[in-house]
Amino acid sequence: MSESLRPGGVRQQLRELDRTVVWHAFSQMDGYDGLIIETGEGCWLTDIDGRRYLDGASSMWCNIHGHRHPYIDQAIRVQLERISHVTNLGMSHPTTISLAQRLVDITPDGLSHVFFSSDGASAVEVAMKLAFQYWRQCSKPEPKRTTFLALGNAYHGDTIGTVSVGGISRFHEMFQPLLFPVLRGPCPDLYRLPTHVEQSQATDYYLLQYRELFEKHSDEIVAMIVEPMVQGAAGVVIQPIGFLSGIERLCREFGCLLIADEVAVGMGRTGKMFACEHESVSPDFLCLGKGLTGGYLPMSATVVATSVWQAFLGRFEDARSFLHGHTYGGNPLSAAAAQATLDLFQMECTLEKLPAKAELMRSRLERLRNHPEVGDVRICGLMAAIELVADKATKTPFPWQAQTAGKICKRFLGKGLWLRPLGNVIPIIPPLSIAESEIDFLFDAIEHGLD
Ligand SMILES: Cc1ncc(COP(=O)(O)O)c(C=O)c1O
Repeated sequence: MSESLRPGGVRQQLRELDRTVVWHAFSQMDGYDGLIIETGEGCWLTDIDGRRYLDGASSMWCNIHGHRHPYIDQAIRVQLERISHVTNLGMSHPTTISLAQRLVDITPDGLSHVFFSSDGASAVEVAMKLAFQYWRQCSKPEPKRTTFLALGNAYHGDTIGTVSVGGISRFHEMFQPLLFPVLRGPCPDLYRLPTHVEQSQATDYYLLQYRELFEKHSDEIVAMIVEPMVQGAAGVVIQPIGFLSGIERLCREFGCLLIADEVAVGMGRTGKMFACEHESVSPDFLCLGKGLTGGYLPMSATVVATSVWQAFLGRFEDARSFLHGHTYGGNPLSAAAAQATLDLFQMECTLEKLPAKAELMRSRLERLRNHPEVGDVRICGLMAAIELVADKATKTPFPWQAQTAGKICKRFLGKGLWLRPLGNVIPIIPPLSIAESEIDFLFDAIEHGLD
């Protein structure tokens, strides 16, 4: 128990206010019952009752180097002593400028300009709007390009634009009348491949369907948007090898722009700094968020290709500027946290240490495969998932109303582990700094909870 525990009455009052005044994201507030976290340290969260939980979801997939990392804490303090906010409308700050240069240096070739926003959805909206405007003012304008091509089950955020390219009907159905039409291909999924398709044929099987869409619609497509390697919110669905590079080839062949949404998969999550690197893909837009500041402060970035940037240059009266902005875009405190996050990748050899951790996670996941309610386990880097099924043979999901995964995750709490379900899938996305002993703790808790 924490020594600085608040009195019982105060804790009760906090719980009551949290239920009745705070409107929690993606939550039914009637009967809401969530944790209230007081402090964090490394991979651990401590709630107001002094109970400790391993943060198996990296505080929604964004904590990388652990909570209260002294190096990031200090970088923010140093920045606080200088200035906390500088608008990026006509102004800038050295910390933000040097972060932009670092992002250009480490992202794939051809990406050379950075537009800062505050959250992942905005980074994706920026890419979409830039791509749309590009086709109207590039050297050979193609104003008939008005639609986007997206993956089945995609998730790119919760603004109207990103919901439009999103394909998870349970999240998006309500807003259908507000959404713009989008072309949609299949969700590449090795677990739910049609029975007539062998695993080894999966890449060709999916790419062929995308080729058909490109052949039919290429002159209407502004850009294709894809989460490289893993569709996170779709249920940590891992793409077959060669799919991503195949998509890049199709975009180039049919002259469409490529938006890589690395909000979830970027910043080392899949074992490379950026997931595009797995297949040497250079998109026209790379969207970053979540882990960009190590999970400390809100910041996102859309890193943009030179060719796109050039289409926006001109005299003021040519009206080629991008008329879009976010008040806190490029905030120096966030930029300081992001710089420290990048430093730590080098100082702590974060990526070099990942293969051993991923291997341990893979072997622990495999032990769960035979569990009667586990349909599939999968992992890419330190992004793993357990998919629960009502019937293993038919892969029938539990009805979403049953909240099966949610109930199981509640049981994990009793073992000191916090995981947040996604439908029938339990994502396991710990901080990259997790120790091997903590991975064992995490899977011991899962094994107990599942049993
Ligand atoms: C792939 C992807 N894109 C965009 C977003 C939206 O990010 P944010 O919640 O910061 O707006 C998310 C959030 O989970 C995401 O997973």
